[in-house]
Amino acid sequence: RLSDAFRAHPQQQLKHPDFTSLHELPDSYAWNQRDDPSPETFATESVPLVDLNDSNALQVIGHACKTWGIFQVTNHGISTSLLDMVEHTCRSLFSLPVHQKLKAARSPDGVSGYGFARISSFFSKLMWSQGFTIVGPPDEHFCQLWPQDFSYHCDVIKEYKEEMKKLAGRLMWLMLGSLGIIAKEDIKWAGPKADFKGASAALQLNYYPACPDPDRAMGLAPHTDSTLLTILYQNSTSGLQVFKEGAGWVAVPPVPGGLVINVGDLMHILSNGSYQSVLHRAMVNRSHHRLSSAYLYGPPSTVEISPHPKLVGPTHPPLYRPVTWNEYLHTKAKHFNKALSSVRVCV
Ligand code: SIN
Ligand code: FE2
Repeated sequence: RLSDAFRAHPQQQLKHPDFTSLHELPDSYAWNQRDDPSPETFATESVPLVDLNDSNALQVIGHACKTWGIFQVTNHGISTSLLDMVEHTCRSLFSLPVHQKLKAARSPDGVSGYGFARISSFFSKLMWSQGFTIVGPPDEHFCQLWPQDFSYHCDVIKEYKEEMKKLAGRLMWLMLGSLGIIAKEDIKWAGPKADFKGASAALQLNYYPACPDPDRAMGLAPHTDSTLLTILYQNSTSGLQVFKEGAGWVAVPPVPGGLVINVGDLMHILSNGSYQSVLHRAMVNRSHHRLSSAYLYGPPSTVEISPHPKLVGPTHPPLYRPVTWNEYLHTKAKHFNKALSSVRVCV
């Protein structure tokens, strides 16, 4: 079990479970400038795209992590047919009748299941989205959703998680490599084949229904991920935006067969502030619904993440104190808007 901090706030129990069929935006879903202080400028710059088969992938990734905190990858080894199957499972899940989805609702003290985005408790307005979190095997919840064919959907998700885990390990080595951390001995929790055996992960499926008033609604409010890294698959409907200093909000258009990689807060800590965890949000659309799946990847539950010794020295004092993933999630829940600064070392 990952963390209590993954729980939804009690206030955020499903208040409007069937908002998908509304023809007008209720006030509780109407965001305004006050709720979203970031400027609405759109840049001509675009998020870096990396072909993982390219010989310079490591350098491009290093640069992307420093300047953007996000990049897209192709030739990542995840087959299009598996991505299609995951998208099909997502679509099938979120198009179930509400009463059916509620059978798999996230319980107040649970982490897995159907409900609002976890970050919704930090905002006064509701988000135009539904989520389904999967930590551990999906069977228990999936047999509530699809009494007949749950094993098909379980197999899809299990295979996806296996493949995501391998890709996340590979991306970890690329990110660490670009920081100059190349030996297995440098990372205590690296497994025998330079993979990360004890890594923890959660899969977050997101559904953004078509919205009658998309300019005033918010699919997923601005946040950074509390992970080491996140692997995001988005279907062909755009909506993801990232905030870049000096450029404002930049759209991340779906690349066919591509995946989006976010630097998370724990990677920012591990890199001693050199890699940026990216502020991102999801917008909604008047005519198309949107689906995404985020593979949230972090260290084993007992491992403390701290600025790597190789990146610390007399001229580079450690900026952060050691934290476990669980502890970081709790800290973030307490200080949402200044999560990273709340684990700073005072130097
Ligand atoms: C997320 O941040 O977890 C999802 C973003 C998206 O749907 O693009
Ligand atoms: Fe996110």
